[in-house]
Amino acid sequence: MIKLNVNGHEHTWDGDPSLPLLWYLRDEAGLTGTKYGCGKALCGACTVHVEGQAVRSCITAMSAVAGQKVTTIEGLHPHGDHPVQKAWREANVPQCGFCQAGQIMQASALLEQNPHPSHEEIRESMAGNICRCGCYQRIETAIHIASTGV
Ligand code: FES
Ligand code: FES
Repeated sequence: MIKLNVNGHEHTWDGDPSLPLLWYLRDEAGLTGTKYGCGKALCGACTVHVEGQAVRSCITAMSAVAGQKVTTIEGLHPHGDHPVQKAWREANVPQCGFCQAGQIMQASALLEQNPHPSHEEIRESMAGNICRCGCYQRIETAIHIASTGV
C-alpha cells in the first residue's frame, strides 16, 4: 500500500507500484490538468511538483512518491491565482494550452528555488518544456513578470 499526499489530501494506492504517477493522477485521482505528451521525459507536459521539485510524472513510478507531497496544477493555488498563473494571464501566454500546466509547474518550481532568475537561468530551467505552438517568448515574459512584478 503506497500512501502519498496530493494537493493536501491523503491518497492510498494498492495497485501496481510501477504505475507512472501521471496515470495515477489522471485516471485514479481524476486530476486531468496534468497532460500526457511523450511518456519519455522529453516534453514536460506532465510536470508536477514532488516535495517542491519539478518532476516528470510520466516516468515517475508510484513507488517513488511513497510518503511524498505531490502538487499538480489543480493544487498550485485554490483559485488559480498563484503569482505565476497571474503573470501567465497578464502576458496572455497560452495558445492551444496543452503544454501550459507543465510550463507553469516548471516555472513555479524555478521561482520557488530562484525568485529572480536571469534570462539564461530561465531558458536553462525551461529548456525541457516543449511548446508546439511556440509560445516561448511569452512564457519567458510571464516568468519575468512573476519574478519582478513588472
Ligand atoms: S509526457 Fe512526460 S515529459 Fe512528455
Ligand atoms: S500552447 Fe500549444 S503546445 Fe504550448
